[in-house]
Amino acid sequence: MPASHPAKTTVSSPSNIAFIKYWGAQDLASAVPENPSLSMTLDTCRSRCTVEHLDEEGAHEVRWRQGGGLETAPPSFADRVIAHLDRLREWSGCGGRFRVATENTFPSAAGLASSASGFSALTLGVLGALGRGEAGAVRSELARRSGSGSASRSVFGGYVEWPADADADGANCHAVQVAAASHWNLRDVIAVVESGPKEVSSLDGHRRARTSPYFEERLRQLPRRLDGVRAALADRDFGRLGPIIEEEAIDLHMIAMTSTPAIYYWKPATLTVLEAVRHLRRDGVAAWSTMDAGANVHVICEPKSEPAVAEVLGGLDGVDQVIRDGVGDGPAVEAEHLF
Ligand code: DP6
Repeated sequence: MPASHPAKTTVSSPSNIAFIKYWGAQDLASAVPENPSLSMTLDTCRSRCTVEHLDEEGAHEVRWRQGGGLETAPPSFADRVIAHLDRLREWSGCGGRFRVATENTFPSAAGLASSASGFSALTLGVLGALGRGEAGAVRSELARRSGSGSASRSVFGGYVEWPADADADGANCHAVQVAAASHWNLRDVIAVVESGPKEVSSLDGHRRARTSPYFEERLRQLPRRLDGVRAALADRDFGRLGPIIEEEAIDLHMIAMTSTPAIYYWKPATLTVLEAVRHLRRDGVAAWSTMDAGANVHVICEPKSEPAVAEVLGGLDGVDQVIRDGVGDGPAVEAEHLF
């Protein structure tokens, strides 16, 4: 390695919320999706990851922080990280081993998806520790290969589209930024109704997607929705964007509920929040719901509506916590390391 080799790097990477969702894979192991997706990168919900490259033989070390100090991560988490470290080591030809520590800046008990932010931060941390200044397309491609496809979008800030195209060998499938965060200040008020991990992983959801009799219909509907989201983004037209993202989220959950075996991510409080958001609209507050593969509801709105949305969500039965986030600029290198 050259003398300038930074060896240890810390990167924080945000989570993202998809307006058009990745659901179903052509190749699940390397996350080549069935359909294009488009997301907004968040600002404050982040994973922070320190990566150190050691020029010696041996096993990688993976630690995490879950509130207290750094601890050795359990195999359920560490195994996916180690597999990705092996993948990146092979890609770079760097040899040696890695020492990694990671934490989330949002409450990890909140049950919010952290794989996208986590694998984006890990990928960028490894590249940083190896002194590799790769182009955005390569960073995105490498993050996608972690198996957490949505990580391919989190390497960029603002609004990000991930086309479903790939070469025959699964290469060249990466996200691109379609607009910077400064283009449109949208907010995401997250109603946390479920703490702890969800019962069925996104990976199992992707695996089952095609078993839904409605999956082909979903694929037929998506180009219209995607065009609508692109146009609404270009024109900063919230009246056009909102209905499409809510329709899309309900569609994803309809696919999940009609898969075999069926997947019910919603909790009763999910419906409470969806209803409250409809009532907000009836009362003149422009706010629309979307959900990932889980029970929590992300309520998207413009800044002028955020206080009213947060107040209403915070008063609902079954809402444990309200997190106020919004569009952000993407990953950042941090001066302070976790170890
Ligand atoms: C519903 O396979 O990327 O959030 O690795 O659990 O983050 P995780 O999931 P991934 O699937 C994402 C599924 C989704 C929709 C989306 O973000 O596009």
